[in-house]
Amino acid sequence: MRKIISGFSKLSKNEKINWLAENYFQNQSETVKIITQYWNTDAALQQLHDDFIENTISNFYIPYGIAPNFIINGEPYVIPMVVEESSVVAAASLVAKFWSTRDGFKTKVIGTTKIGHVHFMYANDVTELEDYFIKNKAELLQSTASITKNMEKRGGGILDIQLVDKTDTLPNYFQLEVTFETKDSMGANFINSCLEAIAKRFEKEDIEIVMSILSNYVPECLVSAEVSCKIEELGGEDPHKFAEKFYQAVKIAEIEPYRAVTHNKGIMNGIDAVVLATGNDFRAVEAGAHAYASRSGQYRSLSHCEINDGIFRFLIEIPLALGTVGGLTALHPMAKLSLEILQKPSAKTLMQITAAAGLAQNFAALRALTTKGIQHGHMKMHLQNILNQFEVNDEEKQFISAYFEKRTVSHAAVVEKINALRK
Ligand code: MEV
Repeated sequence: MRKIISGFSKLSKNEKINWLAENYFQNQSETVKIITQYWNTDAALQQLHDDFIENTISNFYIPYGIAPNFIINGEPYVIPMVVEESSVVAAASLVAKFWSTRDGFKTKVIGTTKIGHVHFMYANDVTELEDYFIKNKAELLQSTASITKNMEKRGGGILDIQLVDKTDTLPNYFQLEVTFETKDSMGANFINSCLEAIAKRFEKEDIEIVMSILSNYVPECLVSAEVSCKIEELGGEDPHKFAEKFYQAVKIAEIEPYRAVTHNKGIMNGIDAVVLATGNDFRAVEAGAHAYASRSGQYRSLSHCEINDGIFRFLIEIPLALGTVGGLTALHPMAKLSLEILQKPSAKTLMQITAAAGLAQNFAALRALTTKGIQHGHMKMHLQNILNQFEVNDEEKQFISAYFEKRTVSHAAVVEKINALRK
């Protein structure tokens, strides 16, 4: 009988695990074994991870891989990636190498402004509200002084506050729209603290604050990345045919939302992997990227392709609110290591590296899709997962891997081969 419990967070870790095993599993000792086998033997390191969230009972491993040979603005990089999908790191590495001999990735930060709002309701005269805002604007800024002091020393802070009338979309709805520069930090806590201080100072009997929160839609915290070369330099049997098909694939993703979502998912395979490896917030990045993809009113591709005067050019523009200080970046030993692998980048540099990883992933997917098809490479990588699922021994693994070296991998074909071998 599954149960509701109160005061769960107060239980010790072992008590939590036992409660879970007793109430939700038949085989309790096996459940406890699975959960505890992922504990780190270093108690201090485990405690660090336990403290990241509430009710931690174990750790969940996702592979940490590295993709070497990225050339970004002339500088070589090894990019750390945290991802569970078989082919992602392999694809990034392959494409990085490919473009390393064609001048690499060119990237540029277009803007770093972040944004947040005090959302409030006001039903009285609008001119009075405007006067109240103008008269108090300096004081609103002043109300954040203790929070912004350190950020200002680093060259960041509040850029501006504007009063926005939204009553045409919702009766009595107004905003204080605040823009921020948060330098090397992602800035979520800083922004939210500033907004709450501003809201407190702004509130009065006819102004009802609904909420104060940053926006994860950051179209002005934007980065671009591109690769280009002469069509002939794309290589392969028929580089012109390849360029043309690739171009069409991107055009389809620009106009067809069904395809655009999958196209952009491929980009996020690369982006999220770097965002995770560096201890950044991938949910924020995901939300912002997809909102940006919809900015025209229709969901579209985040990347674009041009073919002009015999030059193939493939580019991406994506909002990325990332930090290289604060949050988990210094706290999680692997996130810290990732930033060291990346030569301790500024947030701006990390934005550029991440955009390049996203573009590389997208190039890999489109190259596969428009030539051999995606399953060829994908299933080759996935073969090891299928073999592990069937707990093959080393000898079986070697034999079956060799067998599928030049054959198409499918789940059914692998299972058939395992069964035949075991007969
Ligand atoms: C799979 O994770 C990603 C792709 O579907 C991306 C794409 O279709 O462009 C291969």
